[in-house]
Amino acid sequence: MRTQVGIVGAGPAGLTLARLLERTGIESVVLEDRTRDYAEQRIRAGVLEQGTVELLRDAGVAERLDREGIVHGGIHLQFDGERHHVPLSQLAGGRSIVIYGQTEVVKDLIAARLESALPLLFETAVESVDPERGVIRHAGGELECDVIAGCDGFHGVCRGSVPDGVLQIFEREYPFGWLGILAEVAPSSDELVYAHHERGFALLSLRSPERSRYYVQCDPADVAEDWPDNRVWDELRARTALDGWTLEEGPVLEKGVTPMRSFVTEPMQHGRLFLVGDAAHIVPPTGAKGLNLAVADARTLAEALVEWYGGGGRDHLDAYSETCLRRVWRAEQFSYWMTSMLHRTGDDPFEQRLQLSQLRYVTSSEAAATSLAENYVGLTTMA
Ligand code: DHB
Repeated sequence: MRTQVGIVGAGPAGLTLARLLERTGIESVVLEDRTRDYAEQRIRAGVLEQGTVELLRDAGVAERLDREGIVHGGIHLQFDGERHHVPLSQLAGGRSIVIYGQTEVVKDLIAARLESALPLLFETAVESVDPERGVIRHAGGELECDVIAGCDGFHGVCRGSVPDGVLQIFEREYPFGWLGILAEVAPSSDELVYAHHERGFALLSLRSPERSRYYVQCDPADVAEDWPDNRVWDELRARTALDGWTLEEGPVLEKGVTPMRSFVTEPMQHGRLFLVGDAAHIVPPTGAKGLNLAVADARTLAEALVEWYGGGGRDHLDAYSETCLRRVWRAEQFSYWMTSMLHRTGDDPFEQRLQLSQLRYVTSSEAAATSLAENYVGLTTMA
């Protein structure tokens, strides 16, 4: 088998890239080792930057997103028993965020791909890729490609296929994780609440007017079984407590631990292989950048491929890694900063005083709040 662009992985990165290529007449085959059911059920993040929403709209896959997505113009930062509103849109030139589950984005992209009757092969495990020759070896045979897009996530095979010594890895692990639940209860807050507390960080988010998505900082070695429902609610209540406000509880539909890691691969390309999204970089979830970065990589690669196939040369293709890494490192710094400001990092009272001072600063200085806001909604120009 032969195609122009072989896409390994049917997550947001791979499916977005496939859709953008379809719109410009470039051929692709998407290979995914999991089942369609798995791809459509796995609960992930849920904050889309306006740029991500606009890209999905331009790609013709935002009909349900435009109907069901919930537009937010701000977030709350809570510390020292007080909740402070950060008016993101007001500070960031009118731009906003949209609450819509990554799971739903994936469902919409799969539906669009299948409707176009283009190749999307589930349960097709990729065994290895050859970055020099552009060959993908999988359970059913070989796929020859002009270009391979490695969209197979942090644990995928693509990054590992690059010869030793080519990639430089930058990494940081955090001494905590997030325990997340999806609950069948109306959100108790109008906008997201990021809470700093001596018991640890907590985050109140949502998926719909009937469903809430909540997280508490936990030990990185914890598993869901360590957190019976009553323990989760006790911690959420304690960490987000506020006079005159109540956290409403409801049945817990799903529970899981999210690891926390910062990770960047340089460069993001070798030979015919281009790494896209989590295959190349991971951010800790505070700041909600992971999905948005994956979609932005897909756009950069799609635009470069359109130019190359159109006879416009390979300047943008050759610059893929450099272009993406500028944006990636901005998101890495922002996510690291948000994570460091909001989590309990140990028993060091000096650290805790610095966090509280920083939180007071971003909630009282317009300059500091603007910096948070423009990063949170997504920078349009890259510093
Ligand atoms: C959600 C996840 C995040 O990492 C975040 O910063 C905000 C919201 C979410 O799952 O809703």
